Amino acid sequence: MKAIAVEPGAGTPQVVERPLPEPQSGEVLIRTLRVGIDGTDHEVIAGAYGETPAGQDRLILGHEAVGVVEDANGTDLAEGTVVAPTVRRPPNGSNPYFEAGEPDMAPEGQYLECGIVGADGFMAEYFTARPKYLVSVPRELAEQGILVEPLSVTEKGIEHAIASRSAFDWRPESALVLGNGSLGLLTLAVFKEVLDYERTYCLGRRDRPDPTLDIIDKLGSTYIDSRETPMADIPTVYEGIDIIYEATGYAKHAFETVEALAPNGVGALLGVPDDWTFEINGGHLHRELVLHNKALVGSVNSNRDHFAAAVKTLGQLPEWFTDDLITDVYELEELEAAFKTDDTTIKTAVEFSRI
Ligand code: NAP
Ligand code: BGC
Ligand code: ZN
Repeated sequence: MKAIAVEPGAGTPQVVERPLPEPQSGEVLIRTLRVGIDGTDHEVIAGAYGETPAGQDRLILGHEAVGVVEDANGTDLAEGTVVAPTVRRPPNGSNPYFEAGEPDMAPEGQYLECGIVGADGFMAEYFTARPKYLVSVPRELAEQGILVEPLSVTEKGIEHAIASRSAFDWRPESALVLGNGSLGLLTLAVFKEVLDYERTYCLGRRDRPDPTLDIIDKLGSTYIDSRETPMADIPTVYEGIDIIYEATGYAKHAFETVEALAPNGVGALLGVPDDWTFEINGGHLHRELVLHNKALVGSVNSNRDHFAAAVKTLGQLPEWFTDDLITDVYELEELEAAFKTDDTTIKTAVEFSRI
């Protein structure tokens, strides 16, 4: 079968031949429909993040997949079921994080991530998985099913942020998303269309015309240009924000988030930046957090419950939004175009087969 693999840091993704995987006992065989591409894939390709499977110099890419069960192999998952796979797998047998259904909370060394950290991903014509690593997706959402994984990341980030405010009567009205990439825009749509936040904002650094800014406008959200409005000015120019979701990977935003929050607000940090040394006013930061009861929460990955919530959320997003967000779907032969990044591209995917 054909797969898409990369030697991180040393080249561009290539189509490679791999043997058709044979499902082991308890595993099903899945025919891949589509696999989405995000900022993490580009970091893996560049060799800035992730690792190849032990003993191999290449990694099969892809962690945002949707496929269809081709061979149930004696499990109770019906053939023909459309499924999205979760990303983490245990490195050696199992461990308490996986047993508790919370692999997303496992520390480094206690998980592999398909397509990212030490395990092959889903950019192949077929892959295998145990049913506990699969979530079913309604057939009518199959084409947009690549959004289940990134939405699950958002479900977790928002859940943890809100949980940090659960000790008091918190009634958030405003949400700010940092970043107008695919994760940022998906999250903005969730705040606006699913969670019904009254006022939503999205921070970027682009000029109009731009397709991401068009989506922000169409959602009825306010665009904030970080080149014109520093984060610290947001409370005076707009308002102090109740919940901020960082999806830029721009390291200063971790600290600037504290400035932009309203008293009692919470910031969820999702970006994965490189090392960057810079000066911050630590006293001010510390004081802001304490005197205004602010919280910062880091969040990575997601578990099966977040995937299930994401499937529900996907069904609630307007069709125009997913149509505008998924800018291009490419065949395997158009590999190079699938991984290009420019200002007209938001979310791209590779299509391996059709339902
Ligand atoms: P992406 O496509 O690279 O999006 C990042 C966006 O942030 C881009 O649109 C970029 O603008 C914008 N941006 C960067 N610096 C900015 C600044 N100073 N001011 C305003 N906007 C700025 O990546 P993505 O796929 O959406 O993912 C976002 C981040 O989340 C990445 O760091 C990724 O690694 C991380 N991530 C984390 C998890 C997790 O589980 N924690 C899951 C998925 C992704 P331009 O395009 O104009 O440069
Ligand atoms: C993936 C997550 C993963 C994270 C860190 C993200 O792009 O969506 O599932 O945990 O990268 O590797
Ligand atoms: Zn991702």
